[in-house]
Amino acid sequence: MLSVTDAISGRRSTRAYADTPVPLETIKEVLQIARLAPSNSNTQPWHIAVASGAARQKLQAAILAEIESGKAASPQWPAGGVGLVGAYKERQYECAFAYYDALGIRREDKMDRGLTVLKNYEFFGAPHVAFVSMPKTMNRANALDLGIFLQSIMLLFAERGIGCIPQGALAAFPDPVREICSIPDDNGIVVGMSFGYPDDTAAINRLQQSRRDLDDLAVFVD
Ligand SMILES: Cc1cc2nc3c(=O)[nH]c(=O)nc-3n(C[C@H](O)[C@H](O)[C@H](O)COP(=O)(O)O)c2cc1C
Repeated sequence: MLSVTDAISGRRSTRAYADTPVPLETIKEVLQIARLAPSNSNTQPWHIAVASGAARQKLQAAILAEIESGKAASPQWPAGGVGLVGAYKERQYECAFAYYDALGIRREDKMDRGLTVLKNYEFFGAPHVAFVSMPKTMNRANALDLGIFLQSIMLLFAERGIGCIPQGALAAFPDPVREICSIPDDNGIVVGMSFGYPDDTAAINRLQQSRRDLDDLAVFVD
């Protein structure tokens, strides 16, 4: 069994998947454990909807139809890319270019870059996609709890050889998700996550994004 250290060190976002679905019992087992995650005042504000099979296919078609019709994105909360400045903005570019480079897409090729964004809404070929939501009355502070819940799921998946990718992009077109996935009426979608068994032959799954040095992000005082 993977140690927590190995799960954190070895995990990568998975952007290519095998067709084999993850058994429902395994998905439920992971969520049974992830629901033990801590939260502010033990409010447990998370809700997760998992779409597989026909529902997953229907979702993909419905979201892509919205995009093709020119409908504007309408996330409940501002996307994570909003408000990035300085080194944070640079890291966002660096991350995107590392991704395009791994796919062999030239930086100036806007068309191919646009098609790459659409892969988010094809769930990168994953057999499952999940949507994590919380009450619309809540804000970013409560979203911290959802982040802890999500990371718990990601590490439990890693332990079981399941790949996944959190996707802020999946919060952008909520209407078909609300309808097909029975999201509670009072909830807004914070993030989506595609998951399944990784396609180990795909080079994109070996993309290793850089990380900040400890000295750059931590200070120790005594
Ligand atoms: C909250 C969150 C939202 C993300 N949204 C997207 C997304 O919409 N599309 C995408 O391709 N990757 C998305 N990612 C994946 C990040 O780009 C990725 O985690 C980061 O580059 C580090 O790479 P790694 O996960 O392989 O370590 C998201 C990650 C997080 C944590």
